[in-house]
Amino acid sequence: MLYERVIRPLLFRMDAEAAHERAVRGLGFLGRVPGGPALLAAVAGAQAPGLRTTVFGLDFPNPVGLAAGFDKDCLLTPILPSLGFGFLELGSVTLRPQPGNPKPRLMRLPLEHALINRMGFPSAGAQAAARRLQSAGRAAVPVGVNIGLNADCPKAKAPEEYALVLRLLHPWADYFVVNVSCPNQTGLRDLQERLQLERILAALEAANSPRKPVLVKLSPDLADAQLPDLLGLIMRHADGVVAVNTTTSRTALSRDPGDIQGGLSGRPLRSAATAMIARIHRLTEGRLPIIGVGGVETGGDVLEKLRAGAGLVQLYTGLVYGGPGAVTRVLRELKALLRAGGFSSVAAAVGTEKA
Ligand SMILES: Cc1cc2nc3c(=O)[nH]c(=O)nc-3n(C[C@H](O)[C@H](O)[C@H](O)COP(=O)(O)O)c2cc1C
Repeated sequence: MLYERVIRPLLFRMDAEAAHERAVRGLGFLGRVPGGPALLAAVAGAQAPGLRTTVFGLDFPNPVGLAAGFDKDCLLTPILPSLGFGFLELGSVTLRPQPGNPKPRLMRLPLEHALINRMGFPSAGAQAAARRLQSAGRAAVPVGVNIGLNADCPKAKAPEEYALVLRLLHPWADYFVVNVSCPNQTGLRDLQERLQLERILAALEAANSPRKPVLVKLSPDLADAQLPDLLGLIMRHADGVVAVNTTTSRTALSRDPGDIQGGLSGRPLRSAATAMIARIHRLTEGRLPIIGVGGVETGGDVLEKLRAGAGLVQLYTGLVYGGPGAVTRVLRELKALLRAGGFSSVAAAVGTEKA
């Protein structure tokens, strides 16, 4: 309430990226002061017993994680668990530092609870990320690192560069995600093409020792016909998928935003993301772990994605619109809905929606 009535209107008067940077600085500060994480946990009310779950061999205190893009430079692992997240996906991290696209590159569509971004992987680079994760120590929840590609990387060198990032960050991550689905880098989504992806996954397999789970993040704009082949490949050479990244489609918007280039996230993405999760679950007969993401704002939205086949769920845009108490509220709602639906655990709900 306080966030929606007072803080959000103030933040929304600022440029969207400036507001994000301010939030990151504030959270970073709280993470460094003694007692800061405990204080934030007390204020955000982060407590969610009874939602534990195990997916791709890792144990999660609850199934609601932070999606990639919020903590691109791995600065906030000491503090983000205090908001209630059951896991964090950091990045996308690129091998070399790069500034990303020119600003402005992040826009709000407040009436739609949506964002459009064309950040283009601003990144401090993999070595800086590794140093920060090392000095922060183990986070209170599992941590995934999402790997992006430098804009100047020739596509033929993509497998090698993805693998180098994995190698540099291997000691500090519990799982990895290959981002081949960001719409803001020319040609990146072509890496979802079968042969390209096969080479990337082979390079990652060779670098991944001791073996940690590797997932592939998919675009909601993939053609239906591409999916079976791609999923077959992922089932042979990876451990799961993150579905979905942002979309270049504007069809789910109720009003024309004008010519804003970039990837759309938030409420208008919700049902397309859930439909894609359901399709993946059906095509893989429930054998491929799925992290579901896109437009999650409530416990009901989480349950919808679990029932479609996701074992875990993430959000980003929902945090911008819901504020620091959003995850705690979502977890409380999820708990009540699971109980009302007769599900004895998070895992018991996964894939129960009949298509
Ligand atoms: C500002 C912004 C930056 C993002 N950056 C990344 C990124 O670096 N890597 C990535 O895989 N996804 C990135 N995403 C996509 C999110 O991880 C997520 O897939 C998408 O926003 C849908 O979830 P949401 O509706 O809960 O935001 C970004 C999203 C936003 C809004």
